[in-house]
Amino acid sequence: MTSSFLLLVGSFSPMISTLNFTLSPPSLTLVSQTPAGTSPTWLLGNPTNSSIFYATDETETGGLNSLIIDHVTGKVTPIASISTQGGSPTHIGMVGNGSTQLGVANYGGGSVFFTTLEDDHLHFANPQLVKFDSVQKSNAHQVVSNGAQVLVSDLGADRVWRLNGGASGQWSIQGAISRPSGSGPRHIVVDDSSLYTLHERANTLTQQTAVTPSSTGQPTEVASISIIPSDTPASATLYAGELLLAHTPSPVMYASNREDPSPAGDAIAVFELNPLTKVAEIRTGLQHLRGVALVGEDNAYLIAGGMKGGGIKVYERVSAAQGYLKEVASLPAGVVDQPSSFIWVPPQDVATGGTTQASTATASIPGVVPTSSVSRAHRRYKIGSW
Ligand SMILES: *[C@@H]1O[C@H](CO)[C@@H](O)[C@H](O)[C@H]1NC(C)=O
Ligand SMILES: *[C@@H]1O[C@H](CO)[C@@H](O)[C@H](O)[C@H]1NC(C)=O
Ligand SMILES: *[C@@H]1O[C@H](CO)[C@@H](O)[C@H](O)[C@H]1NC(C)=O
Repeated sequence: MTSSFLLLVGSFSPMISTLNFTLSPPSLTLVSQTPAGTSPTWLLGNPTNSSIFYATDETETGGLNSLIIDHVTGKVTPIASISTQGGSPTHIGMVGNGSTQLGVANYGGGSVFFTTLEDDHLHFANPQLVKFDSVQKSNAHQVVSNGAQVLVSDLGADRVWRLNGGASGQWSIQGAISRPSGSGPRHIVVDDSSLYTLHERANTLTQQTAVTPSSTGQPTEVASISIIPSDTPASATLYAGELLLAHTPSPVMYASNREDPSPAGDAIAVFELNPLTKVAEIRTGLQHLRGVALVGEDNAYLIAGGMKGGGIKVYERVSAAQGYLKEVASLPAGVVDQPSSFIWVPPQDVATGGTTQASTATASIPGVVPTSSVSRAHRRYKIGSW
């Protein structure tokens, strides 16, 4: 195992923060902060080069930036920028096949911005905008690849758009999956032809089956479960936040909420799959829990941040018998202003296959062989704590 890894934190402040997480004994420290636009709220790592990542600039005009992180110093350097041609971009997803095209959800006005990465993975080309102006109140929130298709959750228009055609150069709307009126679909996960949707306003997690890149029409809903903790007063108004899926050692989903009045803070609901079942509600002590991400080798850890209080916490993912999430390290409130998203910076030699990184300061992981040298999302490691 590596003994430490870096994390990047997006924010509604102008700063991207670099954190260092040491595994044993677990500790979290702030390494550096870098100005990157006005509100670098969402971050995405390049899947083939762990020195490169992208950040939204969630402003009224909307921007997308590419940045480089130095693995040794943790220092971040902004490289290139492009307008997303729409307001308040909330999310960046890799789309198409491979690692050369990005899709960005523009919340304001409702559109998706697509751009192709040049060979250096840093500069942007071929901008394309797809607008959802056939409906009122469109607020695109997330862009998720589903094979040859792209799915876009639309929080304002209560639907999940299906887009096709990127291979021929231009994406276009093929249809949409309806969600209940007023439910506010915010974040989605597609797995094994099931669409899991977390609704910000209804605070439900639903599962719909047979959602394939070629399917059309309305898929069957087989589950709809509230993520609101059982001991939260019914009068409280909560806003569902993030939805995450970990495949190993067995499939688990995490759904966060915000604005819970409990003195124990906002909660993360834990679900097991097949059938979708809520198995735990974990109070975090965080206020306005916004960014939550799975980080580390084989997603061994979950990191969560309170935008309005509580700081940033790292949990080890443990077995059901141990309570699913065990807090192991934290940063107090105020060290990072308004944390909104997180990404893991995989050790350099692992992400690149160890061939071209002569200057890397991170040793290879003894005994760990990635099953794929390309996609870090699909690598499998032995996980120690289950
Ligand atoms: C990753 O990107 C960085 C920054 O552009 C570059 O210096 C490095 O050579 C790239 N690594 C690989 C393996 O291409
Ligand atoms: C992170 O912490 C480890 C020790 O746990 C240290 O070796 C490494 O240099 C630190 N990295 C940065 C960028 O500060
Ligand atoms: C991805 O690959 C599939 C199968 O080769 C192809 O049908 C599809 O059009 C491709 N999609 C994009 C966006 O390139």
